[in-house]
Amino acid sequence: MPLYWFGRRFREGLLDEIAALDAQRAPAPASLPELERRVDALWFEYRTKLAHRRAPSLAAELDRRLDVALYTQQPERMDLGEPTLERHLRNIASLDKVNDTLRSYALFSRLVRRFVDERLPARGESTTLRILDLASGHGGFPLFLDRHARRHGWNWQITGSDYDRNYVAKAQERARIAGQNVAFVELDALQMAGLASGDYDLIVCTQSIHHFRPGQLARMMRESSRVARHGWVLVDSIRGFFFAAAVAGFIGALTRNPDTIHDGWISLRKMFFPEELRFLARMAGLDAPDTTMHPPLFVRCAWSANDAR
Ligand SMILES: C[S@@+](CC[C@H](N)C(=O)[O-])C[C@H]1O[C@@H](n2cnc3c(N)ncnc32)[C@H](O)[C@@H]1O
Repeated sequence: MPLYWFGRRFREGLLDEIAALDAQRAPAPASLPELERRVDALWFEYRTKLAHRRAPSLAAELDRRLDVALYTQQPERMDLGEPTLERHLRNIASLDKVNDTLRSYALFSRLVRRFVDERLPARGESTTLRILDLASGHGGFPLFLDRHARRHGWNWQITGSDYDRNYVAKAQERARIAGQNVAFVELDALQMAGLASGDYDLIVCTQSIHHFRPGQLARMMRESSRVARHGWVLVDSIRGFFFAAAVAGFIGALTRNPDTIHDGWISLRKMFFPEELRFLARMAGLDAPDTTMHPPLFVRCAWSANDAR
């Protein structure tokens, strides 16, 4: 059993306590910058309390200490920009290779399909489902999802996006070479004011939410709930350090890319736990976010506008 489970109840209680205190102190923030600022302040409070409060069992205590020692918000090389464009593109291509080997895109596609089946049951295949994928990198997942949807005869129109123009250009080139009708646009997932409410039916984001600070993620959740008519599905890994070491070893052996090994290790120290994602969604004013674990590595956090109505 991954070690992260041992500390789960301890963290969950703490987050609820902090949210309850916050609710007594101030009304829910209306503006996005205020939401971001407030969530980051609450996160600091959470981390500070976590650093000082002993866990109720030996296993949870070990987990807490590891979390306190290793948790980071340090940016990855991918975010800072590797020294050359060639290395920058090679880094995302290595991640693609890991996803291919682990068949992660097939799992993500099933998780998106499950959301559509469970939360949009009345929608027939005669209407096009407009899906926006945020932070797509050089397009690996949107291109896979498009092929998957076409193979199954699903009427899905997929748009990929990223704020990195080199990745967007590479994704456009890959779509053109593959002859796939998937648009790729330059878009900062934290600045979606240019998109109108309901511009898309569904927003998806895979393996990228750990690139955002907690406040930024709450902001992205709230904005996504405005832009996507039916809701959003976020998929990422979870922190868990013994397991992370094994994954880092696997990534290293498979890619032999020092940038990807570096970023893999940093990411695995930044990922969110399911209860943290639920907390951030609630802070963003979204009720009943649904989180499910997909062993050994992934968490899906989904929010449906249809449930909220
Ligand atoms: C680890 S890659 C994930 C790529 C892809 N979604 C996947 O599943 O493999 C993270 C991506 O997030 C992008 N990213 C980070 N911050 C972003 C932001 N604020 N807006 C849009 N993209 C962002 C990076 O450029 C990078 O392409």
